[in-house]
Amino acid sequence: MKVDVLLGLQWGDEGKGKIVDVLTPQYDIIARFQGGPNAGHTLEFEGIKHVLHTIPSGIFREGVLNVIGNGVVIDPVIFKGELEKMAPYNIDFKSRLVISKKAHLILPTHRILDAASEAAKGKDKIGSTLKGIGPTYMDKTGRNGLRVGDIFSPNFETKYNALVNKHKDMLKRFPDFEYDLSELEGPWLQAVSELKQLTAIDSEQFLNDSMKAGKKILAEGAQGTMLDIDFGTYPFVTSSNTVTAGTCTGLGVAPTKIGDVIGIFKAYCTRVGSGPFPTELDDEVGERIRKEGSEFGATTGRPRRCGWVDIPQLKYAIMINGVTELSMMKADVLDAFETIQACTHYLIDGERYDYFPYDVNDVEVVPVYEEIKGWNCDTTKLSSFEDAPSELKDYVEYLEQKLEVPITVVSVGPDRTQTLNNKVLA
Ligand code: GDP
Ligand code: IMO
Ligand code: MG
Repeated sequence: MKVDVLLGLQWGDEGKGKIVDVLTPQYDIIARFQGGPNAGHTLEFEGIKHVLHTIPSGIFREGVLNVIGNGVVIDPVIFKGELEKMAPYNIDFKSRLVISKKAHLILPTHRILDAASEAAKGKDKIGSTLKGIGPTYMDKTGRNGLRVGDIFSPNFETKYNALVNKHKDMLKRFPDFEYDLSELEGPWLQAVSELKQLTAIDSEQFLNDSMKAGKKILAEGAQGTMLDIDFGTYPFVTSSNTVTAGTCTGLGVAPTKIGDVIGIFKAYCTRVGSGPFPTELDDEVGERIRKEGSEFGATTGRPRRCGWVDIPQLKYAIMINGVTELSMMKADVLDAFETIQACTHYLIDGERYDYFPYDVNDVEVVPVYEEIKGWNCDTTKLSSFEDAPSELKDYVEYLEQKLEVPITVVSVGPDRTQTLNNKVLA
């Protein structure tokens, strides 16, 4: 068996949590491969909304195992909070959730460093989620990090103190930044001792053995392609590889073992935090999309920047990820629009660009749009794509032609049930 992958093609928050939850019954294992509590993956069913940060989005389906891979970074305090919130569901986490011993830990001082670094950047700040993601991955690549496996070691405290002392030295570079570590340390160490009660494993071995045994695995990405450390809008990105290649390094799955790659995008586009966004609408239309789509961050509550769908950007993401099928999310958000715009190419210094170029930070990127007729009716109660208004079908077909990949799922609401299957057309 091969590992299927589901990941975001835009700047995150495409609706990955919802679709992973919808697809989970088709799989035996759901495995998160990168990112950490910067992610906020929302699932809705039976009238209740759940936001997951570290735990994979397959956790609510019985009989499915969830894996937190080596590429993920874990804040034990946030993780503990997630487990506590799910207490009413009586999920046996010890058997339904396993954690890679190689996953790195986010320390309280990583969060403090993240905040100090952002404050020092002033108007050039990344707009990080302040969860300590950048500093934790820096310690990983700098070969200083603490991993889940370390918490079982008798000299864990010595290792912890050594890293904290290094961080305290680094914080001296920010003399104006005040912090209080004492309040954070106790709860963190307590959460680490609770983390020890869960199941830590050699997840790369487990996943490869599972594949050999014929188990079906879905890898769940966090963030989105345009936030990838290599291929995103650097430096306004996160600190991990959010693309398909991140599945290989973040789970220990060989490139030859990658199966379907499901790329997920909104029928429009959003971004939260700083950085370039060619189709951003800084006007009442953008405001309207934000309102209709409730576009506020699931992790930070910040308003998301909104704009039209960007075809060169999506083509770029499809290319980097080797996407084999697409899920188009939040079509219902455009229900009230008479017309929709789709960006077909950019003009930079008067020159036409059909692809996403290196430099979009310091130049003026002028998006050129094609106008598309809206469907202008309620799609949230549809139960079959066949019954969708012809204009929505036309929009889907238009994008399929431009993107050269089938759109197999169209989502028309946040609930599990508001998901239309378009496999027939694919
Ligand atoms: P993720 O990070 O990719 O999992 O996405 P988020 O959970 O951060 O953001 C997606 C938001 O859109 C959540 O509030 C979802 O409940 C919601 N959502 C997902 N799909 C749809 C949809 O088709 N229509 C509407 N209106 N909301 C959706
Ligand atoms: P999900 O998985 C949207 C953004 C932040 C910031 C940049 C760097 O829910 O789609 P970081 O805290 O990672 O150092 O922040 O990346 N960002 C996200 N934006 N969705 C996310 O995750 C994000 N995770 C990080 O806003 O611009
Ligand atoms: Mg999110």
